[in-house]
Amino acid sequence: MKYPKEYLDEIKTRLKVSSVVSKTVSLKKRGKEFIGLSPFKNEKTPSFTVNDEKEFYHCFATSEHGNIFDFVMKTQNLKFGEAVKHLAQLAGMQPYMFSKKDEEREKKWIEYKSIYNEYVNFYHNELLKNETFSVARDYLKNRSLGKDEVKKFKIGYIEKNPNFLDKFKKNYSEETLVETGLFYFDDKKKIYVERFRGRLIFPINNISGYPIALGGRIIESLDYLAKYINSPETIFFKKGSNLYNLDLARKLSNKLDHIYLVEGYMDVVGLAKNGIENVVANLGTSLTDRQILILNQFFDDIIICFDGDESGYKAALRAAENSIKELKPEKQISFLFLPDKEDPDSFVNKNGKANFVDFTKQSKLSIHQFIFSHYKKQTENNPSSMAIFEKKLRAIANTIKDDFIRKYVLEYFLEKISDLTPYSNQQKKKYYVKRTKSLETTKKYFNESKSLTAVELKEFSLLYLLINNLHLFQSNIHLIENIKLFTEENKKIFEVLLKKFKSENYITIEDLNLDSFLLDKINKFAPIKHILKNQSDNDEKTIELLEDISRDLVNFDLEFRIQELESKFSVDMSETTFNELKELKKKQNLN
Ligand code: CTP
Ligand code: MN
Repeated sequence: MKYPKEYLDEIKTRLKVSSVVSKTVSLKKRGKEFIGLSPFKNEKTPSFTVNDEKEFYHCFATSEHGNIFDFVMKTQNLKFGEAVKHLAQLAGMQPYMFSKKDEEREKKWIEYKSIYNEYVNFYHNELLKNETFSVARDYLKNRSLGKDEVKKFKIGYIEKNPNFLDKFKKNYSEETLVETGLFYFDDKKKIYVERFRGRLIFPINNISGYPIALGGRIIESLDYLAKYINSPETIFFKKGSNLYNLDLARKLSNKLDHIYLVEGYMDVVGLAKNGIENVVANLGTSLTDRQILILNQFFDDIIICFDGDESGYKAALRAAENSIKELKPEKQISFLFLPDKEDPDSFVNKNGKANFVDFTKQSKLSIHQFIFSHYKKQTENNPSSMAIFEKKLRAIANTIKDDFIRKYVLEYFLEKISDLTPYSNQQKKKYYVKRTKSLETTKKYFNESKSLTAVELKEFSLLYLLINNLHLFQSNIHLIENIKLFTEENKKIFEVLLKKFKSENYITIEDLNLDSFLLDKINKFAPIKHILKNQSDNDEKTIELLEDISRDLVNFDLEFRIQELESKFSVDMSETTFNELKELKKKQNLN
């Protein structure tokens, strides 16, 4: 039996070659390709390349070459059928069941595909060319959409009294046509009607780019008509498994690691018009686990940006509670809340791409921050309310499937709660940590403390001091402005702090929007915390501590530069290098 091409193509589109290969071969990115040691030959210099765009691997040492199916067949010694089963599972797809029905289904798919194709192309061309459709074109112009967007998304317009059915009837049975969802039978009038008549249509494509459903928007507001309608579910269109624009957006995953998830068709189109094309929409239904999994196959970071109104907020909360279950290490889900009454389309049209991107950077909340702050807002400062709060957060954390993430989200929640009740929760927290059996990965995390360098620890102390004395340093920014840090991660945090300090607002720790894992690390490992514990609220002492740290950091800097110059001097033996070196050593002695 042959697997249908549709099924094999879907596996291929869902799995990047690099993600399949990297399960067994360690790969390094080089330009558009990845490179690694050949699995077909024992070698010391890498001659094995992977190209995700072209969907193949190539080994220059052995001339082995092929796609993901070839790769697992050859490296795991599997037959084709076994490779398909293995990869389908990896892609989160159901195993393929062969039956007599398959041939029928395959036939149906070919018909379905050509019906949609013909239908979408026809009304797309009508919108572009037909003079009598100027109402629709004016509508688009009013929303400042031009030919480029209409073409890119193959938007169409269906007249109010269309007669496409007659054209189709010659080639397809009525039953087949109704099964596409494009037509339905009106029981009263006893006629077939086109579901999307009188609407602008947005084709919804499957992951390989074939239209399989439509969304339709009215262009004049009539109370008795829904603003949008979507195709009903069909054999080939399942709402919870598809996302609008996934076929185009997924192609950007070679360049970008994040994807925006929005509510509406027009949000996708509006963002794309403004140069943000890594966007999908979930078609007016609530977000499903499957949709999260699909997005995670291509992107590490999902940014959910729903409308800035109450229903958008509620939808975001539902999405957060549902998708936190699927959170995986190295994957992130965050939320972006737009100002009141804005949706992504209106926001980007008003403010432009750069501002949208900036807004994302400054305002996105990671999923656990969002959930925490939502439930905190609902909580009053009394024992019963606090208890409900903690129970709720524990319950949410417990839904997370990944052991590692579950542990750290729970710890994040509990630590934040104990910040709210610093006295009473101290003990509880210790109790919890003791009882939890340490996972391998967790041990690794704690062992990290040993591998932290002296510089990193010093930087942690600096950041710890700043974070715990935000207002003191906001009003004394001159004391910290010129401090130089060395490690990339810490540098970034420091920059965020400086930037926030410079804004005039009174800032809080939440405003900093820091990565919770980094924050945890700082809180755990900053050596200074043991000193600070014993004397809080003494500004003079705090500033003294800051001066110590910054002097140490300057010394580290000198030390690095001296080492650099020494190795330079050992090569060039030049007098200038020698003099520079002497200067630095003098400075070091003074400090
Ligand atoms: N939607 C739907 N049925 C409705 C209303 C909305 O299926 N009656 C879905 C559509 O997928 C729509 C999305 O929800 O794109 C968002 O709806 P809404 O915010 O009302 O529309 P906008 O995206 O703002 O569209 P427009 O700007 O065209 O009004
Ligand atoms: Mn809108």
